[in-house]
Amino acid sequence: MANRYIILGAGGLARELYHNLREQYARQSGRGNAPVCAGFLDDAKTEMAAGYPPILGTIKGHRPSPEYDYYLGVGVPEVRRRVSLLFRGYEHLFPAWHSTRNAGQLAERRIEVGCGTLIEQEVLSCDIKIGKFALVRGVVGHDVRIGDYCEISTGSSILGGTLIEEGVHVAANCVTAPGVRIGAWSKISAGSAVMKDVPPCSLVVGVPGKIHTEFFLPPE
Ligand SMILES: CC(C)(COP(=O)(O)OP(=O)(O)OC[C@H]1O[C@@H](n2cnc3c(N)ncnc32)[C@H](O)[C@@H]1OP(=O)(O)O)[C@@H](O)C(=O)NCCC(=O)NCCS
Repeated sequence: MANRYIILGAGGLARELYHNLREQYARQSGRGNAPVCAGFLDDAKTEMAAGYPPILGTIKGHRPSPEYDYYLGVGVPEVRRRVSLLFRGYEHLFPAWHSTRNAGQLAERRIEVGCGTLIEQEVLSCDIKIGKFALVRGVVGHDVRIGDYCEISTGSSILGGTLIEEGVHVAANCVTAPGVRIGAWSKISAGSAVMKDVPPCSLVVGVPGKIHTEFFLPPE
């Protein structure tokens, strides 16, 4: 692990991640030894809000360096995928991160987590596989599979045995019935309940969830 890290993005998620990492590193490493945030990378903003480390440059223009760990602080799955592809060949510089558990504790519960995935959740069962560059903030039951780039938002409950394919966005406060399969790049709108399988690239709304549209092509 490097002793400095860079956060990709400079919006609300990136700032929140900065505080979460800082607090967790302080708890684990003690004062003085904790890794330090060198700054943020962002393609749109050039200045950071007061009190935060600086914006160091753009994501596109950055040359990855093993001097740093990198954390992906950008939202929705399409953007997480696009940004992570700019770092192709350097994925190993993106640690998997859990807000309270370390790698050994995750391994004991037989929870596999891909590089660059961030998990901010106390309630994480066991025998779970989560792909790379995902963002998981909901409750995750046993035997769940979550694909690369997925975003599981705050307040959602992914019940046991659910299979979520690549790039799915489960918005805030959703629930998935045990064992359902959600096809790649689908979006489950806030507050929905997914009671049966969902084809790829669908927008699901409501309780019980209905397919509103099969609406877009997956990213190339
Ligand atoms: C999933 C989501 C991102 C999809 O966004 P989108 O692709 O832009 O879809 P839209 O907002 O254009 O909505 C498409 C249709 O679904 C309907 N819809 C969207 N969300 C809905 C909901 N939660 N309940 C019922 N209907 C909903 C819209 O009214 C619209 O209907 P119309 O075509 O008849 O006008 C969005 O619905 C959502 O839930 N956003 C919240 C994101 C969130 O929870 N973030 C948390 C971060 S912590």
